[in-house]
Parts: sequence; structure tokens; C-alpha cells
Amino acid sequence: MELNKLIRENLRKYSAYEPGEQPTEEGWVILNTNENPYPPLPEILNDIKKAVNNKIRLYPDPTSFELRKEILNVLLRDKDTLTNRNSIFIGNGSDEILDVIFKVFIDPGDEIVIFYPTYGLYKVLATLYNAKINEIQLNEDFSIPDKAFSAKGKVMFINSPNDPNGKSLGNATILKLCDNFPGIVVVDESYADFSNQTCLSLLKKAKNLIIDRSFSKGFSIASLRMGFALADAEIIKEMNRVKLPYNTNYLGQIAALSCIKHNKKIFEQNKKILKERERLNKELDKYNGITVLPSDANFIFVKFDDKSKTLKFVWDLKEMKILVRHFSKPGLYNYIRVTIGTEEDNNKFLNAFGTIANKYL
Ligand SMILES: Cc1ncc(COP(=O)(O)O)c(C=O)c1O
Repeated sequence: MELNKLIRENLRKYSAYEPGEQPTEEGWVILNTNENPYPPLPEILNDIKKAVNNKIRLYPDPTSFELRKEILNVLLRDKDTLTNRNSIFIGNGSDEILDVIFKVFIDPGDEIVIFYPTYGLYKVLATLYNAKINEIQLNEDFSIPDKAFSAKGKVMFINSPNDPNGKSLGNATILKLCDNFPGIVVVDESYADFSNQTCLSLLKKAKNLIIDRSFSKGFSIASLRMGFALADAEIIKEMNRVKLPYNTNYLGQIAALSCIKHNKKIFEQNKKILKERERLNKELDKYNGITVLPSDANFIFVKFDDKSKTLKFVWDLKEMKILVRHFSKPGLYNYIRVTIGTEEDNNKFLNAFGTIANKYL
């Protein structure tokens, strides 16, 4: 058997997504994967524990009916957005929703529009599905360049707040992109729980908009892989036709329901992350030779004036068992992305940063 001849041709040029390093031993300060630093609330852990019973023998509800109902009736109750249960798709993390969107819309050779820099998975999936990629470079300040408003293609992927810089795009920009683009516009709002901006209200105006949301970041249940999408019911119907029958698991559904039940308390807890984001910003601002970009997400993006110093910081931090994210990619060599941790972890990071800054800055 010649495996190379059996696998799909475009897999030969395909590079898989590379997640941030995740050490398994204790003692690391992990600020490279944008997880929520706080554990799920005890009430949520309790609901999950109670659900570990004989029901695990059964398949989960393939339609996640309860969860869709509660997303609309509770989580999004005060939002000016769609109110139809059939306008919600439940996915195995917001990542699976991106994959389902490719499955629905992309034939080999179809054109998609993505921006650079942004979350790497859009490009990885585009290569996997053999899409033609129109990658548009963001402006220096990470805003959308004019040429994006005349771009053509089947699907455009926007990330707001954008990973890695943390900036949200305004609704006027998103609406203009939706109005001008002939295909589907996907707005990945996986980090929107840390921002006071969302484009949920645009769903009533833009029929070609899909919003992708996550329970991983704002709700601290990344391991249970839960996400949801909102869009016109006709689009959601197609997404449901192609998804695997039991794409989300029972415990994940229970956990997401519990997160919704306790959402006010969770958002209260998340305020600590926002406060810490402000503190990190202020503390790092004291150093010459770096700039901290304003962020609406649970991470900050730090720019080094002197590119050659960036990796020195990354390596020295790692020696002190602190992980941050560095992207060895054009235009990003002089940045590090730092996830906002607990107060204790942030102090460790700030102390280590100060020690290293004494050497290099
Ligand atoms: C922009 C963006 N979208 C989606 C995801 C994945 O989220 P989920 O855990 O819901 O699949 C991430 C994770 O880092 C991300 O940065």
C-alpha cells in the first residue's frame, strides 16, 4: 500500500493547525492559549457531576433543543438579535462551526476571503477544503483596508475581537462588509464575552451574516467543546444537514446550560480578567521599547520596537516556566501575545518581565 497515493491530493501541501504548547507537568504559568484563568463556578461543576449518571449510556440530543432555547431565552434575552430557535446552531466548539461552514459552502476551487494576521484555523481549513484563498493584509493598525469592501468570493471570515491583536471591528465596518460582499460573512466572536461590542444586532439587517460564538473563553469550559452560531434559519438548516449526527456531547450540553443559568455570576467573575487586562497594560506601559495594543479580548498583544529582543523575552520567560505566544510569521516577529491570567500568574509574569527588561530594554 502506498499511503501517499491514497490520501487526498491536497493533503500533500496541507499543514495542520499548530496549537500553543501545553505542558502537562505542574508549575507552569500558561499564558499562551487564551483560556479563562478561572475554573468553572462550583454550581456548574456540581451540575456536571450530577449528570455523570446512567444517561451517559444514551446518545445526546442531536438538536441540542434545550440549549438553543436557553441561549435565546436567557443568554441573549437582552440583546437586539434574532429570536427564532431555528436560527441557532450548536457546535463542538466554535472551531467545529467553522468546519461546518466550509462543508456547506466550499467546493474545491471556490474563493474565500480571510485577513492577515488573524486566527490561523481559517487558512488551515481553507487548505483542507482546497479553497482558493484571497488573504488580505490588515492595515498597520489592524483595521480593515479599503480593498476588502470590493472583495469577491463565497465566504469571508472576520475575527472580532481579532486574534492576535485583540481589537474589535466596529459594527459599521462589519455591516459595510456584509452589504458589499456577494457571499457569506462569518464573524468569529469567540472572544466577544470580554468586549462591550458585538455584531449580534446586525443579524436582523444582514441575511448573509453568520456569528460564531464559544463557551471556551468566557465560560471556562474549553475542554467540553461547546460553541454556537447564529444566522438566518435557512443557513442554519443547511449547517444542520451536514453536521455529524451527535456533534456535541451530553456533558457539554449540560455544562453549557449551567453556564447560561449562572451567566451573570460568570460575567461578574470575568470582570476580574478585564481589570487585570487594564493593570497589565498599565504596568507594561512603563517600559520603553515596547507598546501594548488596546485589547477587547482576554489577551494583550505586545510590540517590541527592536525585533531582535522579542525572542529573547520569549525564551527567558520560558526558562522561568512562563509561556506566552510568539508567531514566527511575517509582520509578527516583533510581537508576543499574552493571555490574561489570574492576579497571581500575572504578577509572576510582570516580575519575570521586569527582570528580563533589566537585561534587554
Ligand atoms: C479566534 C478563535 N476562534 C475560535 C477558537 C476556538 O474556540 P473553541 O474552543 O470554541 O473551538 C479560538 C481558540 O483559540 C480562537 O482564537
